[in-house]
Amino acid sequence: MKFFIDTANLAQIKEANELGILDGVTTNPSLMAKEGIKGEKAVMDHYRTICEMVNGDISAEVISTDFAGIVEEGNKLAAIHPNIVVKVPMIKDGIKAIRYFSEKGIRTNCTLVFSAGQAILAAKAGATYLSPFIGRIDDSNWDGIELISQIAHIYSVQGFKTEILAASIRTPLHIVKCAEAGADVCTCPLDSITGLLKHPLTDIGLAKFLEDAKKTLG
Ligand code: G3P
Repeated sequence: MKFFIDTANLAQIKEANELGILDGVTTNPSLMAKEGIKGEKAVMDHYRTICEMVNGDISAEVISTDFAGIVEEGNKLAAIHPNIVVKVPMIKDGIKAIRYFSEKGIRTNCTLVFSAGQAILAAKAGATYLSPFIGRIDDSNWDGIELISQIAHIYSVQGFKTEILAASIRTPLHIVKCAEAGADVCTCPLDSITGLLKHPLTDIGLAKFLEDAKKTLG
């Protein structure tokens, strides 16, 4: 399973990248706004900076909702760097645009996915990645991990090549469960990634080893 970080924060991207386990970055308009990035040039420059920092797929989201607008924006985003993946919402014109980009050899990430039916449609259109929003499904009293299992099963029996990119990850356990359920990628906040490190028995065991090492060193 690939690990992406879900943020536009450069310090957090740097920290995750330095761990040596980062395969890419996903962003969205809310994450860009959170960093105070304003204006088309600033947005483009920010994506370029991220592409220069991380050697992996970088999802950049369109904000148009009509076919012509999505295509125009997506072409501009894709021109920034070969690692850009154009993130397109799961709407009718989004599906048309994913088909268009797929035929042009531009990779896409179909976002805001909440059902298996949407997953089938995105795969048929040729999406490179599919982003089901696990945490938001859990928030609405459904089971996000169950959806990952269902999509993984459908893609496997149908031979769809679209990669399942589990998004809206909120906890380290979400990452473990997504790995178990067959997600190809998890995009996570930094604290969910670093949360995987934690186990009290590791801390207790290390403290004891270091204490005993002092005895062997005299
Ligand atoms: O990747 C999608 C993600 O950024 C949404 O997360 O926590 O706002 O549901 P959240």
